[in-house]
Amino acid sequence: MKRTEFVLIAGLLPAMSFAATLPEPNSKGAALVTNYCTECHGAPYPSAHPAREWPAVVARMQNWRVTKGFGEIPEKDLAPLVDYLEKNGRR
Ligand code: HEC
Repeated sequence: MKRTEFVLIAGLLPAMSFAATLPEPNSKGAALVTNYCTECHGAPYPSAHPAREWPAVVARMQNWRVTKGFGEIPEKDLAPLVDYLEKNGRR
């Protein structure tokens, strides 16, 4: 994907499943999302997906991070990040 196309897609994303305020805003999980998930779009809202879908979404985002040169989310942060999204996922 060319950079211009990428910026265009990322620019359209806020309309979909992103929110300004995360649940449990002072938790470690919210901090991890803010840290690793906002370079390309707004903070993803955990209720955008049921818990069982989050691991695959995060794996896809890892690929985006690598493709775009941000580097992988380190192992020690990955598990608590996915836990937070699952815990607050859609019921
Ligand atoms: C390097 C850029 C980048 C980073 C960092 C990034 N994303 Fe994304 N994200 C994208 C792009 C590009 C799309 C649209 C294409 C797609 O869905 O794969 C997207 C789409 C999404 C979507 C909407 C599509 C869906 O499947 O619901 C969600 C939710 C999402 N990202 C969550 C996350 C989470 C959670 C993180 C952190 C772990 C994250 N993103 C970090 C680039 C990124």
